[in-house]
Amino acid sequence: MTVPIPQDQNMVDPLSVSEPIPASPETSAQLPTNHEASVTPIATTGESKSAGPVLGLTGRPLPTFSAPGPLTSHGPAYIIAMTNQKGGVGKTTTTINLGAALAEAGRKVLMVDMDPQGSLSIGLGVNPEDLVGKRTVYDMLMDSSAVPASDVVLHTSVPGLDILPANIQLSAAELRLAGEVAREYALDRAFESVRPLYDYILIDCQPSLGLLTVNALTAADGVVIPMECEFFALRGVEMLRETITKVQERLNNRLTIDGVLPTMVDARTLHTRETIQAVLDAFGDSVFHTTISRTVKFPETTKAGVSIIEQAPNSSGAQNYRNLAWELVARLETQGSVAK
Ligand SMILES: Nc1ncnc2c1ncn2[C@@H]1O[C@H](COP(=O)(O)OP(=O)(O)O)[C@@H](O)[C@H]1O
Ligand SMILES: [Mg+2]
Repeated sequence: MTVPIPQDQNMVDPLSVSEPIPASPETSAQLPTNHEASVTPIATTGESKSAGPVLGLTGRPLPTFSAPGPLTSHGPAYIIAMTNQKGGVGKTTTTINLGAALAEAGRKVLMVDMDPQGSLSIGLGVNPEDLVGKRTVYDMLMDSSAVPASDVVLHTSVPGLDILPANIQLSAAELRLAGEVAREYALDRAFESVRPLYDYILIDCQPSLGLLTVNALTAADGVVIPMECEFFALRGVEMLRETITKVQERLNNRLTIDGVLPTMVDARTLHTRETIQAVLDAFGDSVFHTTISRTVKFPETTKAGVSIIEQAPNSSGAQNYRNLAWELVARLETQGSVAK
């Protein structure tokens, strides 16, 4: 099956219609100052009148991604840290739905809750009270030879999609790890036993650049940075980049930025389009072609404890994440970053 990245609700890409975004002459990580949200009419046909290539929401020619072919064997996993020290930008939502979309494509996926809030676990229907007395990511980080990841792993309702759950106890890990030797490598060590079993490991990070996130970056091959399309999206991005560079230089030289993902996109607003342009100015081609539209379906599915891929498989949100999975697999598996 081959489908193009969906243009939200059959909308022609707003960057290709009447009101062009002014090129931002300022330096990269700055938003244009005229940021008042305004609604711009959008053509409702799916066809572009000009003969040129169809442009995506990110203003670039839109490639077509195909459903990845089946795998004949599994592992070793490519490990991705879902990172942005801002809260509420879509890290957990992306971990759950990218995970479900990769599993739908036949990949074996392990999701890891590295946020003491436990939102990933809750979002996948794991009741925090059910974890009392059970082994969690906390125990695994404290001593992975006594508590290997295989003792912590839970299966979700989706075949091929597993989770290492966490709860508030994980907040003690940062303090307890601080005094340990090689404290940044605790998660990396814990992954040794499960890496051969999965194709992708997705780590849902907490909204900070503390020791838990540094552990995730040290264990990871790549970083995906979800970015909510609003005016302050790029605030703090320099600090995130510095942290990634430091980890690359001191702890993990294989770490790369796999992609920046615009989330909560409302294609009708000039404000969103300006933000996407600013994100592109700052990150260039590492910005995914796929963007995630804003829809109330996400909060609803979080409450239901399932992914949007299960709850509303034909919704635009599910299709967005499916395309993200396909784009990611195209980036990683065809360029050889993932040995398949
Ligand atoms: N594309 C979206 N459209 C609308 N709401 C979203 C979208 N993505 C996430 N949300 C909602 O926004 C809130 C924050 O998302 P979440 O994934 O928990 O962010 P983070 O993990 O970065 O803190 C949640 O209530 C979630 O359901
Ligand atoms: Mg979260």
